[in-house]
Amino acid sequence: MAGTFISFEGPDGAGKTSVIKAVNEALGNQLGAEQVLLTREPGGDRIAEQIRDVLFDDQNTNMDSRTEALLFAAARRQHVVQDIKPALHEGKVVLSDRYVDSSVAYQGGGRHLGIDDIWELNEFAIHDLLPALTIYLDVPSELGLQRINEHRADQVNRLDREKLAFHRRVRQAFLTLAKRHPHRIVVIDASAELTTVIQEVESLIHSRFPTLLPK
Ligand code: TYD
Repeated sequence: MAGTFISFEGPDGAGKTSVIKAVNEALGNQLGAEQVLLTREPGGDRIAEQIRDVLFDDQNTNMDSRTEALLFAAARRQHVVQDIKPALHEGKVVLSDRYVDSSVAYQGGGRHLGIDDIWELNEFAIHDLLPALTIYLDVPSELGLQRINEHRADQVNRLDREKLAFHRRVRQAFLTLAKRHPHRIVVIDASAELTTVIQEVESLIHSRFPTLLPK
């Protein structure tokens, strides 16, 4: 496939959204905005967005963990087919705010469903489409939760509200994944200042894909 697929991962409060926004702007300036697709999971086309609404409906307090895992994977499948693959075929850079590793970390680790089982479930959904690079923004869980409470208390979702132990399991699962996929997943220390994190991410993209971003 001609394009370049980059995913961004991180526990809640890692500053992921701000980092992606900056990368999207830098790539857009370099390549032209139409050459970059910024997208997020769960989400994408109409069907994936409808699944997102089910997942984050505050009234769905009795959602079974396996149902949750299946819905995230279903939304991902739809996103891959309707948004990511077509953009890659057109030669675009696709920046995805979360992808398969989030399911492995949140459902596999956080919800205790198991890293391997959730990986397998998602292999069915993604059908070999892995990012060329996954940037994992790492922060200690306490700091992540503190940032959420300070900055986005009004936008807290069903998963954000989970307890500290849940978020610690999520982080551990992300770190396990990074060890298992050392070339694809690069860990960036996101406890540093935002500008430092952005610089580090942009220089990583430059070193992996020199034609996309100049130094
Ligand atoms: P969202 O508000 O979209 O954004 P952010 O990435 O900034 O947190 O929240 C997505 C939530 O869904 C987040 O808590 C992680 C969770 N999630 C999963 O549990 N599994 C998944 O497969 C994905 C993609 C997300």
